[in-house]
Amino acid sequence: MSDKAAKKAEKSINNSSKPVLGLATGKTFTGFYKKLVEKHNKKKISFSNITTFNLDEYVGLPSDHPESFHYYMENNLFKDVKIPNQNYHIPNGTAGNLKKECEEYEIKIKNAGGINTQFLGIGENGHIGYNEPGSPHDSRTRVVKLTEETQKNKKEYFESRKVPEKAITMGIGTILEADQIFLLASGEEKAEAVKKTVEGPITKDIPSSALQKHDNCTLIIDEEASTYLPKT
Ligand code: F6R
Repeated sequence: MSDKAAKKAEKSINNSSKPVLGLATGKTFTGFYKKLVEKHNKKKISFSNITTFNLDEYVGLPSDHPESFHYYMENNLFKDVKIPNQNYHIPNGTAGNLKKECEEYEIKIKNAGGINTQFLGIGENGHIGYNEPGSPHDSRTRVVKLTEETQKNKKEYFESRKVPEKAITMGIGTILEADQIFLLASGEEKAEAVKKTVEGPITKDIPSSALQKHDNCTLIIDEEASTYLPKT
């Protein structure tokens, strides 16, 4: 799965003179970033000309906090690939004015020419980015409250077992503006959400179902995550 997704990233990077990638974090993506680092080391891709935008960040966690998404990106990708500092973007969860931070994030995406290729993970409740059930499909980057279920599922990453209650996330509307989207899912715990993403009605209750409205969205999933999809 990681290999396939990294090949898609490689193609997107090498087919564009000014590639702009949308990136996700979490356990689904650690293998993917390993593959990207390998490709960088083998000189198959260069990060010198890439711009990246991460989907989300916890409110209140500084960039050097070990459970922040900023730290995750630094640790899993950025420290190894020589990406110029000004070329990567992650929402600042400690900004004094969070509303302004969100508005400016949208402007930065626009000024970069929009996102060519967006990578997404998925929550067990169908969240994409941190757009939880109930998120409007035209939502933009904003501060959101995480559901109790999501906070429970993310506990394993937090040594303190205290998951922040809020996050900044790109909106579903922001995500849908990407030229192409790849959603990765691994494990049976994601199978129900995957089925609803593909086969369910398009509804605010399942944020990922909004992806049915996009005309260039591909799911890259493992066997377990496809448990409830029809086998052909
Ligand atoms: C994180 C993000 C989330 C995760 C999702 C799955 O940047 O956008 O939507 O992709 O919560 O997380 P894992 O991969 O840890 O199961």
